Parts: sequence; structure tokens; C-alpha cells
Amino acid sequence: MLYLLLLSNILCAVLLGYIAFAMVRSIASGAPFIPTLRRHLEPIVRMADLRPDDIVIELGSGDGRFCIAAAKAGVRRAVGYDISRPLVWWARQTATREGVADRAQFERGNIMRTDCSGATLIYLYLMPRITNALAEGPLRSLRPGARVLTAAFPIDTAANPQFRLVRSELFGSVRAFLYVRV
Ligand SMILES: C[S@@+](CC[C@H](N)C(=O)[O-])C[C@H]1O[C@@H](n2cnc3c(N)ncnc32)[C@H](O)[C@@H]1O
Repeated sequence: MLYLLLLSNILCAVLLGYIAFAMVRSIASGAPFIPTLRRHLEPIVRMADLRPDDIVIELGSGDGRFCIAAAKAGVRRAVGYDISRPLVWWARQTATREGVADRAQFERGNIMRTDCSGATLIYLYLMPRITNALAEGPLRSLRPGARVLTAAFPIDTAANPQFRLVRSELFGSVRAFLYVRV
């Protein structure tokens, strides 16, 4: 009995340690896991003005809620990338459970090395520094007309004039910004 208790405590400690490690790594690599609030998800998805032929990429997809909502809204494909292995695993489980695993996929990887060139809509909810690093890096390969939706932090369009702000909306205390690649 005592052994079982000891074993379960060790397992809990290992699990908590792993989760803490994953959190620290996501903070160190650009942004901690703070999901888009459920109550903001529907209006943010509406703001994205999703179309059936959209290829959606979410940079830093967390638990996958945006991609899953986009897949349910009928986009052709939604792919989320995240540095955190447990979050990618969790997002895949949720997509399967919700019946959209064929259209909402999740990959582990560093978003600074993501190929975004095929996307027609990008969603990101990150910190200012990595948002602008993406605008200066991977997002440059987007085709003209592609949209970029950012939650909380805008793109510095003075430094990145290839993105034109189309609209911004306030959801509670979070502002979202919709850009088009010109
Ligand atoms: C603020 S959360 C947003 C999660 C999700 N997009 C949402 O709106 O619910 C930021 C996410 O980005 C991930 N992330 C941060 N830096 C990253 C990097 N360099 N590469 C991949 N993912 C990263 C974190 O692990 C975290 O899940």
C-alpha cells in the first residue's frame, strides 16, 4: 500500500515537472500558453471571415481551439504549430473527439521556422516581440491577399508595410487586428 502511494506520488511529481518544463519552454521561446478565451473565440472566428477554400495556419496553437473552430466553420484545412509536445498531443485528441481530425491538424515545431507560404489565413495570439519577428520572417512568404489575424498585440506596420490593417475589434479587454498581405 505504502509502495503504491509512493509510486503515485513519484508519477505525479514527474508529470507536474514535465508540464512545468513545457510551460517554461513555451515562455522562453516566445509566449506562454494563455488560450484565447472561449467567450472570445466565436467573435474572433467571425472576424476572420473564414471561407471554404481557406488554408488556415495558427502559429502557437496551444490546445487547438482556434483551428478546431475554423475546421468546424468549414475551412479546407487548419494546421496548428506549437513548441509544446503536450499541447500538440492534447489538440490532436480534441480534434479527434470533435470529429474534425481530417481538417484540423497539429504539428510540433518552432513557429519561427514554419513555412506559411500556402496559408490564406494566419491566426496568432503571441507576445509583441515574436509577433513582429514573425512579420519580419515567416509571414513575409504569404501571398498577396492572405489575411493575418492577431489577438492582443498588433503588427508594427511602420516596420512591416507589407501588412495593411483592415480592421480591429475589441473583445472584452482583448483587441484583435486583421491585416491583409499587400
Ligand atoms: C498565448 S498562447 C495562444 C494559444 C492559442 N493560439 C490560443 O489562442 O488559444 C501562445 C502559444 O504559443 C506557443 N509558442 C510560443 N512560442 C512558440 C514558438 N517559438 N514556437 C511554437 N510555439 C510557440 C506556446 O506554447 C503557446 O501555446
